[in-house]
Amino acid sequence: MHRIAVAAHKGGSGKTTVSVNLAGALAAQGGRVVVVDADPQGAAGASLGSPAVKPTLYEVLSGVASLQEAVRPTAHERIDLIPGDLDLAGAEVELPRQDGWQTSLRRALGSLRAYDVAIIDTAPGLGVLPYVALAAADQVLVVCPPDFLSFRSLPTVLEAAERARVPLIGIVPNRVGARTRHEGDVLAELRARHGAQLLGEVPRRVALQDAAIAGQPISVYSPVSEAAEAFDRLAREVSQSHARTP
Ligand SMILES: Nc1ncnc2c1ncn2[C@@H]1O[C@H](COP(=O)(O)OP(=O)(O)OP(=O)(O)O)[C@@H](O)[C@H]1O
Ligand SMILES: [Mg+2]
Repeated sequence: MHRIAVAAHKGGSGKTTVSVNLAGALAAQGGRVVVVDADPQGAAGASLGSPAVKPTLYEVLSGVASLQEAVRPTAHERIDLIPGDLDLAGAEVELPRQDGWQTSLRRALGSLRAYDVAIIDTAPGLGVLPYVALAAADQVLVVCPPDFLSFRSLPTVLEAAERARVPLIGIVPNRVGARTRHEGDVLAELRARHGAQLLGEVPRRVALQDAAIAGQPISVYSPVSEAAEAFDRLAREVSQSHARTP
């Protein structure tokens, strides 16, 4: 099973949107996918239409439940979920008291056999949970909307991935299409500084918000749409990157 962490230092970048819709696109292409909601907000589960029911990732990381007990099907073909809930906020404090906490999620995921890909939706910031998620991943996908503050926070997440020795798949420019001068300037800067690392853009589309409300990835909610096409392309880029990884 290939494990991908979806990360950004800045909150609200689109980590959950990318996680859920990348999972949808990979599943539509025939992959068996498990989404790991490593965020106390539980937004990935909600966006897949699955309310968090115990046991969640919190019980797994606390050692009171196995991953097999926490993983469950969603309403969507070939997409399962390990939910996250508010208790995970406590893990920020509790986890570091355990021996080997850094690799706790990595070890737990090692017991899963039935999937081709695990997509780990991370919490914003660079705290304990994002670190544990990064350390569990084989590769990281970084999300960056074309605005100044997101661009400004890019180096810190790239450095965190490097320190954790997790190779970068690439940077996804997300929510592109405001057509402001500010956006144009940031996109130009992104291309100038990170051109070789940039993946296909995800457009700014209300359908992505509507899909989340409906609890469906865009591949299900609106399979013939620009947003669905963007995630289909992204899924192919992610699969090609994996194929190139030794
Ligand atoms: N491409 C897009 N087009 C339109 N809206 C988007 C797009 N990407 C994200 N959004 C919206 O932006 C908001 C933030 O996105 P999302 O929740 O995916 O970010 P996040 O990085 O997971 O946030 P957090 O840091 O809180 O976990 C949401 O309302 C989401 O629907
Ligand atoms: Mg999120």
